[in-house]
Amino acid sequence: MDKFVIRGGKKLSGRVTVSGAKNSVLALMPATLLNNGRNIINNVPEVADTYTMLKLLNFLGVEFNFENHRLTVDTSTITHQEAPYEHVKKMRASVYVLGPLLARYKSAKVSLPGGCAWGPRPINLHLEALKKLNAEIELEEGYILAKCKELIGAKIHFDISSVGATGNTIMAATLAKGTTLITNAATEPEIVELEKSLVKMGARIDGIGTSTVEIEGVDELLPIEMNNIPDRIEAGTLMISAAMTKGRITLEKVEPSHLETIIYKLEDSGVKCNVHNDLIDIDATEIDVLPVDISTSTYPGFPTDMQAQWTAYMTLARGTSRITDNIYFDRFKHIPELTRLGAQIEVMRNSAVVTGGKSLKGAKVMSTDLRASACLVLAGLAAEGETEVLRIYHLDRGYQRIEEKLQKLGADIERVKTQEY
Ligand code: EPU
Repeated sequence: MDKFVIRGGKKLSGRVTVSGAKNSVLALMPATLLNNGRNIINNVPEVADTYTMLKLLNFLGVEFNFENHRLTVDTSTITHQEAPYEHVKKMRASVYVLGPLLARYKSAKVSLPGGCAWGPRPINLHLEALKKLNAEIELEEGYILAKCKELIGAKIHFDISSVGATGNTIMAATLAKGTTLITNAATEPEIVELEKSLVKMGARIDGIGTSTVEIEGVDELLPIEMNNIPDRIEAGTLMISAAMTKGRITLEKVEPSHLETIIYKLEDSGVKCNVHNDLIDIDATEIDVLPVDISTSTYPGFPTDMQAQWTAYMTLARGTSRITDNIYFDRFKHIPELTRLGAQIEVMRNSAVVTGGKSLKGAKVMSTDLRASACLVLAGLAAEGETEVLRIYHLDRGYQRIEEKLQKLGADIERVKTQEY
């Protein structure tokens, strides 16, 4: 097992390239199951979740080659339509294979994901939508058993906007008979990328990027080459790393339009952000951090996947800020760990109230999930003395060797093997 040892207090400076988006590629990879042949995905991040999805696709019979962020996926060799528990328990996004397998093979067996580190994350919306598309769904011994004679287009309204349920339903509907109308569809950039890629495969989709999406089913989709979008959450995390160390960094290969809310909030806190094409310059060299409240919501609102990192940042502000998570009410496992570093934070229902300005002091802390670990790394970069972040396998799920990027920017951070758990 690995841990990070961070000696805080170094101002970050320099240029850093943002990797391809994890949450986008986790939808694009299963989307290839809808066609029969050799697909290419460029700008694929080398993160643990990519490898978990590859193992699952490979279990289904897919052959692949993954080199230098370019992934070739051959879906002409599929032999199984089952996603076993071993894969799904590691990564909830494995449930993305359900819609495509059902659409192409008329049957699929996918393990139920169960709970996640910070609380329940149901998949009822995925299942209800597939039922509307004429699938028969049973739950048996921890598995979803889905089958159909044929999928038939339907009107589907999501009571809650869900990234995963929107993705799964759109993928299934591309090969359904007739028209599917989805209202309150998710509009996150990762879904827009999926919609665009499906269109490139031959799908007929109207309303791309909006919450009302109409899909006209087609008989088959064709293999294609796709370019994955930059990871907006990795970019946001790196932006906060500069803000928290009073540094100045330039992010390369980003999509600034995906980061507007984060940029506004950083500017409100006193950071100067300048955007030029696919570069963002973050200047926090003269910052006296102002408290800024955030409240997470669906895109283009402030992303829940940046909530923990923003909480770490606000511990440095001169004043009190309120951080509210409206997507996941329980996503606050990072708070007790931040408190070990000297932060003063009180959680009230789905809000964390941060009394900033208490200086952070290095300590041993434990990651509990992906974004919680990113938040602890950020706090460690700003803390006095040495911080050890344990269980960084959580972080490796979604950040591509973040320590190398931070080292390049001047951070004192190293990955160390440990027996500690
Ligand atoms: N929800 C339901 N029923 C469902 C599905 C969702 O009640 O069937 C609720 C959830 O409990 C939540 C809300 O709907 O309150 C939104 O969840 P959503 O389905 O949008 O989340 P997801 O698709 O499971 C993706 C990302 C998450 C990110 C969320 C929200 C991927 C692989 N994962 O999850 O990313 O937090 O959208 O933006 O795309 C991460 O990267 O750290 C991460 C957790």
